[in-house]
Amino acid sequence: MSFSLVFKFLIFAAFIRISFFPHVSCKNFHHFNFSDFPYERINELRRFDSGINKYAIQVTYDLSGDRMNNLSGRSFYRDPFTLWRINGKKNTTATFSTTFKLNIANQSNPGGEGLAFIITGKPDLPRNSEGQWLGIVNSSTNGSSEAQIVAVEFDTRKSFSEDIDDNHIGLNVNSIFSMDQVPLSVKLSSGENITVRVEYDGKNMIAFVGYGLMELNQVLSQNIDLSQYLPEKVFVGFSASTSNFVQSNCVLSWEFHGTDIDKKRNLNWVWMAVVVAVVLLLLTGVGFCLYRRRKHELEELKDAEGIESHINDFTMAPKKFKLRELKKATGRFSPKNKLGKGGFGTVYKGTWKNREIAVKRVSETSRHGKQEFIAEVTTIGSLRHRSLVKLIGWCYEKHELLLVYEYMPNGSLDKFIFVDEKTGLDESTLNWETRVSIIHGTAQALEYLHNGCEKRVLHRDIKASNILLDSDFKARLGDFGLARTIQDQKTHHSTNEIAGTPGYMAPEIFLTGRATVETDVYAFGVLIMEVVCGRKPGNQCEQNNYNSSIVHWLWELHRKGRILDAADSKLEGNFSEEEMEYILILGLACCHPNPHQRPSMKLVLQVLSGEATAPEVPTERPSFVWPAMPPSFSEWDQSLAGSQLTPFSEITGR
Ligand SMILES: *[C@@H]1O[C@H](CO)[C@@H](O)[C@H](O)[C@H]1NC(C)=O
Ligand SMILES: *[C@@H]1O[C@H](CO)[C@@H](O)[C@H](O)[C@H]1NC(C)=O
Repeated sequence: MSFSLVFKFLIFAAFIRISFFPHVSCKNFHHFNFSDFPYERINELRRFDSGINKYAIQVTYDLSGDRMNNLSGRSFYRDPFTLWRINGKKNTTATFSTTFKLNIANQSNPGGEGLAFIITGKPDLPRNSEGQWLGIVNSSTNGSSEAQIVAVEFDTRKSFSEDIDDNHIGLNVNSIFSMDQVPLSVKLSSGENITVRVEYDGKNMIAFVGYGLMELNQVLSQNIDLSQYLPEKVFVGFSASTSNFVQSNCVLSWEFHGTDIDKKRNLNWVWMAVVVAVVLLLLTGVGFCLYRRRKHELEELKDAEGIESHINDFTMAPKKFKLRELKKATGRFSPKNKLGKGGFGTVYKGTWKNREIAVKRVSETSRHGKQEFIAEVTTIGSLRHRSLVKLIGWCYEKHELLLVYEYMPNGSLDKFIFVDEKTGLDESTLNWETRVSIIHGTAQALEYLHNGCEKRVLHRDIKASNILLDSDFKARLGDFGLARTIQDQKTHHSTNEIAGTPGYMAPEIFLTGRATVETDVYAFGVLIMEVVCGRKPGNQCEQNNYNSSIVHWLWELHRKGRILDAADSKLEGNFSEEEMEYILILGLACCHPNPHQRPSMKLVLQVLSGEATAPEVPTERPSFVWPAMPPSFSEWDQSLAGSQLTPFSEITGR
């Protein structure tokens, strides 16, 4: 009887051990294995300008066309690996072996630049590490022990005279210069899968390369004491880059085994059982008290996971931050770091890892806080364009919704064009060239959203305060809180929500309640007028305010043949009259009351770059008629095809 009780206890203890400490045995090794990269495991990777899809890590993003130029990126396994430690007087060094499958395919002829397996104490992607630098170092960290990086490079381009050829492996320490390099017989960038194994026995780094696991050949062996160059805790992963020459840089599978010199505990079984018994007693004792709290926490966790899984469905999802990191970065959201307040929250300036960032705290009172949050992360998070404000990351913890952007030193455009009479900062007036470049930059961003990215995106809130200026006064479109991705060819259902900012909203929105490509173009037309005339848009829907609408005002000047009078007096006549005129006419064309008559952003861009002439606009402002008549077929602007006005498309909020 007593024997069977003991036996039962032992089985029970073993069960507890297995179910409560499932990874105990693995803790003596640093081990992970990815045969592919499903979204469920996305959190096991730390990525910097690097994407994943189910099948691969895209160490640099796989994008289309010239958006693939000049990229660099890094991806690491999430947890650091203890490479060495001082144990008494003895320096203990870990050993490891890692095997991965690469796929590099040229997208230009020749392709560029290369990919590397890296071990580093500093996972952040160095700035300007694209091109020849392979994401390993940049021109200022090259050759410096500060870089704390050892790389096994797979160089696919001869970009330095020191490079032996355009298809070699090399071992690099804190530098792009290889201490040892060997030409390879496999063709790295042929688009074929290539298997690599890298081993370190505590003294030597050895690399094997082949088309398959069974064909691995030793290609490199170098005596190296990693503890001389790297800190105790390191991250392992990959870096890659492209230049004017481009290629996809993918890792298809990845396995890593290392000894864990951190955990030298040799707990024997009896000791373990005692611990389990004590823990068990404590658990039952405290368990009930915790039960209710836990339940509450679980609900919150589920909510957070919901948001997270939504966001993670996107290949290039931005980084997830911890609330604590962002509190530290912004001085606990100190009022003195406040940059501004928008419809959906307050923006704070912060410093994170020596980098200036802007943190938007989505206000709890915002009606669709969560929807806007997800819209913003999933729309701009997956977009890359030099005229869009880059979203670095996000955080959802303890009911706080936070978005992290790159910091724009010059703030928003409205501050520059609507000079506050009280402060009267006249010296901040933008000159004509800068204004034209801002209009051009915004047009490029919008054209990209409408026609350049995988799924058409409507911004729905184009206005001066959503255009930010970087250090060179180049325009960057921001605030995607209202943005929506268009899922075309879906069944018809109408969104009744009218969104946008009065004064920038096309007249038909008030009837249809629906945003379209053409309503974005309308808002862009208003923006042109503001930037050129230095005048607020006014509100055209209130009849008594009729004359204050910038569109009506400008059209009236146009009717009188005095359109140049609209120029901002602060420009003091310093502009090209010809340029001024066609840009204003373009603004009017964008604000045509009939949406069918508005130019597409593609045409707008052609006009701005001088490839097309400004569209004709009638001298008398046409009145708004609904439903609007489409123009005759011959006048149809082909690039509008597939827009909201053609019968089949519809937007849905995500
Ligand atoms: C890539 O960088 C090079 C060198 O800085 C530059 O000349 C080139 O214009 C860049 N290409 C693109 C498409 O931005
Ligand atoms: C990078 O640094 C190494 C020294 O580690 C030096 O030999 C090499 O010339 C440098 N390369 C460039 C392009 O600056």
